[in-house]
Amino acid sequence: MDKSIVVFFSHAGDNYAVGNIEVGNTKIVADYISELTGAEQFEIVTHKYDGMAYTPLINLAKEEAKNGELPEYEGDVDLSQYDTVFIGGPIWWGSYPQVMFSFFKKHANDLKGKTLIPFTTHEGSGLANCVEDVKDAFPGANVTEGFSIYGHEVRSSKAKVEKWLKNFE
Ligand SMILES: Cc1cc2nc3c(=O)[nH]c(=O)nc-3n(C[C@H](O)[C@H](O)[C@H](O)COP(=O)(O)O)c2cc1C
Repeated sequence: MDKSIVVFFSHAGDNYAVGNIEVGNTKIVADYISELTGAEQFEIVTHKYDGMAYTPLINLAKEEAKNGELPEYEGDVDLSQYDTVFIGGPIWWGSYPQVMFSFFKKHANDLKGKTLIPFTTHEGSGLANCVEDVKDAFPGANVTEGFSIYGHEVRSSKAKVEKWLKNFE
């Protein structure tokens, strides 16, 4: 594979189906991808949700999505050196968390002609609207089919990720 990076957001802490987790579900998938392909990583980090219990987080995320809020994230990355960009996050109310859209907006013109590979972790919604949203966010990019996996499955499903990645060899 060409030079690649995994850009992802993942929320550790209290969550549906898995309880209070130290490492978020999407981060586990991102780590599998890096281990199996050598892709570098950029984690979209915000401290806005630190320590929140599941129910208040659900309510806050719903408001953010409804209002199209764009929370700030820490640091940034220069994507010009990468040919392939994996983009992953949990489904929050039908698409990626709003903080990922903050990243998308900032980098909207940086991925023209590059390959974008969307993935999600979820608890029933699959890819939801993520592939369409990535296509809308990055005009001119080559967006592949997406990959989705249940969050509660990721810890025992490295083989599924490995099988999916064979598509890109
Ligand atoms: C605020 C919030 C909203 C969520 N909304 C959905 C949803 O609409 N559909 C779904 O299938 N799962 C939903 N989930 C479950 C997460 O997508 C799932 O647990 C995911 O694996 C979490 O990944 P993470 O640990 O990397 O953050 C939601 C979880 C949270 C915390």
